[in-house]
Amino acid sequence: MLQETPTLTPYELRAVVLETERLVLRQPTLADVKAIARVVGDKRVSINLRRVPHPYSADDAISFVTTTAATIDTVFLVEHERAAVGLVGVSWENENAPELGYCFGVDHWGKGYATEAARAVIDYAFEEFAIDQLLAGARVLNPASRHVLEKCGFQWTGVELHRFLALGSSTPVDRFKLERSVWASLRSWSNSTRR
Ligand SMILES: CC(C)(COP(=O)(O)OP(=O)(O)OC[C@H]1O[C@@H](n2cnc3c(N)ncnc32)[C@H](O)[C@@H]1OP(=O)(O)O)[C@@H](O)C(=O)NCCC(=O)NCCS
Repeated sequence: MLQETPTLTPYELRAVVLETERLVLRQPTLADVKAIARVVGDKRVSINLRRVPHPYSADDAISFVTTTAATIDTVFLVEHERAAVGLVGVSWENENAPELGYCFGVDHWGKGYATEAARAVIDYAFEEFAIDQLLAGARVLNPASRHVLEKCGFQWTGVELHRFLALGSSTPVDRFKLERSVWASLRSWSNSTRR
């Protein structure tokens, strides 16, 4: 299905709330700082995120929330039954190459939350912005994230070396892309019904 030309800017869209079967995705506020620090402060999470230091303090979370509010990056706090379980977002650091990213609290892994939330944000990104593709990356040693991307329709494009703050070094990252045409095709498949 062809999408209408988006009319709103990323700034105007930041108040959007997305709902999935089990999750609510909304803009993070300073009231979420403790929850964010709890999720991101776990080293099993931070070593898989490029720009997150370890240890990760409440001040880091405050800076994350305020910086996010001041940039066009699209970040959603993910809630399940009103408790914060993770974060999903699209980085516009390179405006021609928006990149999907996400992390979930260790206690919430393995429940399908990342896939469910990522799909909602992918739909949102393609529906609201005139983008041709979304990029994403996962450390080669991160099969769970790779699996999430594949379940969302991303295709592997190669391996790059990226620096990870919490590791204090560079490490290989599998790179992926999801083209608008592939996304549209997957969307129309899921909409089909049998009579
Ligand atoms: C990656 C991450 C977001 C996954 O969250 P999640 O909610 O557990 O993901 P989901 O449950 O939606 O899907 C994970 C999939 O990976 C699979 N998986 C998990 N561990 C795996 C492993 N070691 N090897 C292979 N597959 C694995 C799961 O079985 C699941 O697939 P399935 O639904 O087919 O069974 C979470 O582990 C996380 O926050 N990690 C740290 C931060 C991070 O890596 N962010 C991504 C940076 S690119």
